[in-house]
Order: sequence, then structure tokens, then C-alpha cells
Amino acid sequence: MRIGLIGTGRIGAFHAATLAALPAVGRLVLHDAVEQQARELAGKIGADWAGDLDGLLGSGLDGVVVAAPTAVHDTLVRAAAAAGVPVFCEKPIAVGPAATRALLAELSGSGVPLQVGFQRRFDAGYAALRDAVAAGDLGRLHTVRACTADPAPPPAGYLALSGGIFRDCAVHDFDSVRWVTGREVVEVSATGADRGDPAFAAAGDVDTAVTVLTLDDGTLVSCTATRYNGAGYDVRMEVAGSRSTLATGYDERAPLRTTTGAVSSAAPYDGFLSRFHEAYVAEMAAFTEVASGLRPSPCTGGDALAALLIAEAADRSLRTGRPVRVEA
Ligand SMILES: NC(=O)c1ccc[n+]([C@@H]2O[C@H](COP(=O)([O-])OP(=O)(O)OC[C@H]3O[C@@H](n4cnc5c(N)ncnc54)[C@H](O)[C@@H]3O)[C@@H](O)[C@H]2O)c1
Repeated sequence: MRIGLIGTGRIGAFHAATLAALPAVGRLVLHDAVEQQARELAGKIGADWAGDLDGLLGSGLDGVVVAAPTAVHDTLVRAAAAAGVPVFCEKPIAVGPAATRALLAELSGSGVPLQVGFQRRFDAGYAALRDAVAAGDLGRLHTVRACTADPAPPPAGYLALSGGIFRDCAVHDFDSVRWVTGREVVEVSATGADRGDPAFAAAGDVDTAVTVLTLDDGTLVSCTATRYNGAGYDVRMEVAGSRSTLATGYDERAPLRTTTGAVSSAAPYDGFLSRFHEAYVAEMAAFTEVASGLRPSPCTGGDALAALLIAEAADRSLRTGRPVRVEA
């Protein structure tokens, strides 16, 4: 099949290399606003490149991956849908709930499938948590603990456009909590701290945050996020129930030591590309199946909106100091 990719930056270059190696992908066509970047990457991985968007979308694609910056996601998804091309879009699919709802309303009549880039849904550990919950192995859930910790803050320029720690970082936990538990979040309380670079305050952001979620069955969830985890990139989740507790993320590369010396022995994960390498590959393989009509989207636009609404509620709670109900 023939797949296009828009945006050959950090995550786009990784997805491009993955797609080039997938047996299902016969031809890969890259496009970037910086033409030379797309051309150079295409040369390295044996792909083609297109100098403009119309040229890309008009080249007989079976699917297209959007990995350009957030601000242009909805425009690019719209263009793909107008061309009738199934689309994978990195999260978030639009800036804010209104733009997300408008995009989803337009897509709903198009019949063009959309898959959103919450790659933890393809991580074996998260999938095992979901299976254990669905099988009832843990009993009645009482607590979920989720953690996303970046080793170092992103550049100040990125912070200003990121949407803040809840929309940019903790949103992966918010999606994972919904996906693993199969429940919806009804209420959010959040707090945050700024004790690092003044760029966070300048961007109206915090460098560390804790969010408490109440699920629609009463299960309580804590999500911790920080940009200053010197030990490495740390993403874990524990799901505890009346019968048993199951955790993921405590493998040999977890950037974590215990007082008994347990857990990490190998080089700790340095970022999302090393921690979720296999999940990203599985995610792209799944998209080729979605684009071929072999399976429905495993992460829909509705899922993207739900996670965003939790992030919006967390942001409002941080600013008001009050619990916030999640918009329906
Ligand atoms: N799911 C994840 O784990 C994950 C991880 C990283 C980034 N992301 C998301 O992926 C997106 C890209 O992030 P990044 O860190 O790779 O950004 P980046 O800045 O490294 O790369 C973006 C690329 O898009 C190109 N570009 C800009 N405008 C364009 C346009 N209109 N058309 C075509 N190309 C254009 C830029 O030249 C650049 O090469 C963001 O929305 C981000 O939130 C998701």
C-alpha cells in the first residue's frame, strides 16, 4: 500500500522509519514544510517525497500520517478527509475542545477513518493491565496510580505552544486511565508546582502536577507528572483492586531504585522514543490495517476529545483551586 507522512520532525522521522520497514507499506511519500528535510529523510530511508500538500494527497495514497505541529493538525486532517484518505494524526487533533468538536462533526459524515496517536494503547504492559481489569482478575478497583515523568524540561519555545502540562504530558495518562479501566472520568482536582525554570511561569504552566480523577464507578486515580525527573523517563501505572494489584513500567530500564536494590539494572529510558519504541511500531502497523479497512480505529477522535476534556478540567481546577466536573 501507499502511505503519506506530513511533518518529518522528532516524531515524524521516527514514524517514517517505522513505516518504511513495514511489509504492508510498498511506497512511502514524505512531505514537510521544510522541503529539504523531507527530501533528505526520504533519501535515507528509501522513501519518495512531495514538495506540496496537494501533490502528496493527490498521489493515490491509501493512508496518511500527520506528524506536523499541533497548530496545523485540524487543517491537515480536514485536507486528508476531503481527499478521502484515511488519516492517522498525532495527539492532539486540534487546539481546544471547540476546534476538536468542529473537526469531529465534519469528519463524522465523511466515512474517512481517523486514528489518534495515543501510543500507550499499543504497549504490551498497558494492554495487560486492560485485559486484567476486563477479566475481573483484580476484583473491584479502588485505586489507580499513573505517572509520567520527563527527564528534563522541553525548550522554552515549545512550552509556550504546548498547551501546558495537562494537555501535553498528563493527557497520555488520562487516555490510558480511560482505556485501561473502561470507565469515564467525572471529576478532576489538580494542583501544581513551579520550582524550576522561570519559563514555566512565563508560559502560564507548572513543572510538576498531581491530578486526582474520580471515575464514574467511584474508583479514585492519581496522575503525577513532572518535567524534572533526573533519573530518566519514567512512565508507570498501577491498578489496585479488592482482589489483586497489577503494575506496568517496572521493567529493567525503569529509572527507579528501591531500598532493597530491586527494579532497574540496565540503562534507564531517556525519553518516549526508547520507552515506547515497540508501541509506536505496533501503532503504525495498526494504522495500515485501519487504512486497509481491516479493523476499526483503535483510538478515535472521540477518545481524543474525551482525554482533552479531562486535561481542560485539570487546568481549570489548577487555576481555581476547586474540583471541576468533566464536560459531557
Ligand atoms: N504521541 C506522542 O508520544 C508524541 C510524541 C512527540 C510529539 N507528538 C506530537 O507530534 C506533533 C509533532 O511533534 P514533534 O515533536 O515531532 O515536532 P517537530 O517540531 O520536531 O516536527 C514538526 C515537523 O513538521 C514540519 N511542519 C511544520 N508545519 C508544517 C506544515 N504545515 N506542513 C508540513 N510540515 C510542517 C516542521 O518543519 C517539522 O519538521 C505534535 O503535535 C506533538 O504533540 C506526539
